[in-house]
Amino acid sequence: MIESLHTRTPELHGGPCAIIDLAALRHNFKVVRNTAPDSKILAVVKANAYGHGIVQAANALSEADAFGVARLKEALALRDAGIRQSIVLLEGVYSHADLDLVAQHGFEPVIHSFEQLQALETWSGNAKLSVWCKVDTGMNRLGFRTDEFALAWLRLSGSSKVQQLRIMTHLADADNREQVRTPDQISRFMRLANDLGVERSIGNSAGLIAWPEARVEWVRPGLMLYGMSPFASTAGPDLGLRPAMTLVAPLIAIRRLNKGDEVGYGGTWRARHDSCIGIAAVGYADGYPRHARTGTPVSVAGKVAPLIGRVSMDMIAIDLTELLRSGEAGAISVGAPVTLWGESLPAEQVAMHADTIPYELVCAISQRVAMKYV
Ligand SMILES: Cc1ncc(COP(=O)(O)O)c(C=O)c1O
Repeated sequence: MIESLHTRTPELHGGPCAIIDLAALRHNFKVVRNTAPDSKILAVVKANAYGHGIVQAANALSEADAFGVARLKEALALRDAGIRQSIVLLEGVYSHADLDLVAQHGFEPVIHSFEQLQALETWSGNAKLSVWCKVDTGMNRLGFRTDEFALAWLRLSGSSKVQQLRIMTHLADADNREQVRTPDQISRFMRLANDLGVERSIGNSAGLIAWPEARVEWVRPGLMLYGMSPFASTAGPDLGLRPAMTLVAPLIAIRRLNKGDEVGYGGTWRARHDSCIGIAAVGYADGYPRHARTGTPVSVAGKVAPLIGRVSMDMIAIDLTELLRSGEAGAISVGAPVTLWGESLPAEQVAMHADTIPYELVCAISQRVAMKYV
């Protein structure tokens, strides 16, 4: 695995690179298919496909039945790139001008509020749209409340602007198998949806993996397509997934320290004995989390070593002392690739050390990071 990463490590040009494995995306899509064989797949590619590149990801996921985005701009980028599948606007739209664009490009808006419903009803366009009615079954974020639902559904199903109507909800706690929240949400949803005779959608990645009842006509995976696990105690590979993004950066300096020397801003790490550290060219301006603590694992030329001190804007420091002492440091020299997460180091593990979730790590990759598709 490490060798394959080395042979694929691009010229790093002094900075980090996100290597996106398109075969991994396709593999993960098959895992979704096998997990929910009777469901259509709405592949969630919002937020630049969780940092992986929206157009490249959508092309790799060409077997998806539809794509899900948060913003109109993301939907337009997909159409501009020639993506022909249905594109669902998961937050919907509010203005008549946006509805014009929706109609022009055949997008499918979610309708989650009476404001959106009214915009649709008063829109002067003469196209009929496919819309997804979102019901709030307990997350209290978006969607018609269950006591408002009957009225919303009546208006939507009677609207001359609506061609096809589907129903969806979103789970608040699907990654928590111990809780009653998810069964409660699912049964509340089923009570509303089952007699309507329309297609339904419930499960995100955690929902479709952990809750078979959530595998209805449509599933809406995001994170698992990118090879990461939504569950705190597991990483993507434990679920048969392959990380699609490997973030690498070059080692740009190796330094010897004396016992007592301090490293980085605030001198928060002090050498307990004579030490050797490496400096890698990646920092919070690239999207590496500033809150990553001393001890966060990084992989230097395939060997795991701890990050030390504070993360800077463009650099991190790594304690190489143990690797050098144990004689494992053969390939470690300036220019060696440092993996921050991905193929040899699950983002889930890094996220834990930075008090965050893998979603945030991959989404936060900044524009300065070079992208390489393999
Ligand atoms: C409405 C909706 N459906 C599906 C997803 C995909 O979720 P996940 O990435 O956890 O699979 C999201 C992501 O936040 C979402 O907002």
